Amino acid sequence: MSDASALTEPERDVPDVGELTPPDRTLMGPGPSDVHPRVLKAMSTPLVGHLDPSFVEIMDEVQELLRYTFRTDNKWTIPVSGTGSASMEAAIGNLVEPGDTMLVPTNGYFGGRMKSMAERAGGDVVEVDAPWGEPLDPVDVERAFDEHQPDVFGFVHAETSTGVLQPNVPELTDIAHDHDAFVIADSVTSLGGVELRVDEWGIDAAYSGPQKCLSCPPGASPLTLSDRAMDKVLDRDEQPRSWYLDLSLLEGYWGDDRSYHHTAPITNVYALREALRLVAEEGIEARWERHREVAGDLKAGLQDLGLEMNAPDEYWLPSLNAVRVPDGIDDGAVIEHLLKEYDLEIASGLGDLEGDIWRIGCMGYSARPKNVEYVLAALEDALAEQGF
Ligand SMILES: Cc1ncc(COP(=O)(O)O)c(C=O)c1O
Repeated sequence: MSDASALTEPERDVPDVGELTPPDRTLMGPGPSDVHPRVLKAMSTPLVGHLDPSFVEIMDEVQELLRYTFRTDNKWTIPVSGTGSASMEAAIGNLVEPGDTMLVPTNGYFGGRMKSMAERAGGDVVEVDAPWGEPLDPVDVERAFDEHQPDVFGFVHAETSTGVLQPNVPELTDIAHDHDAFVIADSVTSLGGVELRVDEWGIDAAYSGPQKCLSCPPGASPLTLSDRAMDKVLDRDEQPRSWYLDLSLLEGYWGDDRSYHHTAPITNVYALREALRLVAEEGIEARWERHREVAGDLKAGLQDLGLEMNAPDEYWLPSLNAVRVPDGIDDGAVIEHLLKEYDLEIASGLGDLEGDIWRIGCMGYSARPKNVEYVLAALEDALAEQGF
């Protein structure tokens, strides 16, 4: 006979976890950025059901505000439940069918993520090369199209890993359309902070994240698709590999039916609504201009400190300032000094640029003169500590 005491669950201590008191950081890294107080307030309002008529109205408003921010009339404009990678996978996983070829860039970390997602979708991946820290050259894109005839072309409008803004977007989309391909733009670090015109520039699908230039917590991530792109999605031979991100199913919830698919992250949708309301109040073009101005002061201040930007002026990305780490300076020690002494977050380089750059965000509510002065003063102090 077994010993009954051996079958009883052992005593467990009650976890001794105190009240939540995160440090009060100033967020000037690659995201998340500081959240606007009005967005935090919206997040503390009571929940309604995800099919409540009042929530259906909120969904319509969020879609309308997203269209304004993306500069598009696309009906298929929704917040995907999840982080930016979810809206990214929704775009790639639905537009790339098994056997399709997708052309992706090699000039940064997120082009690599596009490749992984396209492969998992069953696509064949081909690449167009540019060094980390440089944008794609339309001549190389044209050559890659002539060589591989891809069905889908993805590019990163604002590469968070290198601080490079992709110029010439309409030139790239023209090349793709001349070859009957679809264009997917990663606008995670550009939406709401840097000029982006989905319709005018001929972008077929664009995805983003809320935690960058929209200054909203992660959780509901913008996505827009043209009718032509959505026709391809609805006309697939095989279902997409993800049930959760299948846009033909999400159509039931965000389209005309408003029927249950999954329980939307209601609080995140509230947050996004308020963040987008702030965009509309400011005016999208004024907002792009503010980012350029405030980040321009940051760039000038960094150069006054004797630091060098990673990207040349033509490709400079106001929302993400990549600065070269001077010889002999320990990049990690500077980051740690800012965090410990100033409660200030900036980030190190990723991938090919690890150890070579700092990444200083200037996004949304963080893109304020006060933050710029603070980061410059703190950085001056941290560099002086190391004798710079
Ligand atoms: C350019 C770019 N694409 C995609 C992503 C993925 O977004 P998330 O981390 O919210 O999943 C990020 C996140 O930083 C990004 O910067």
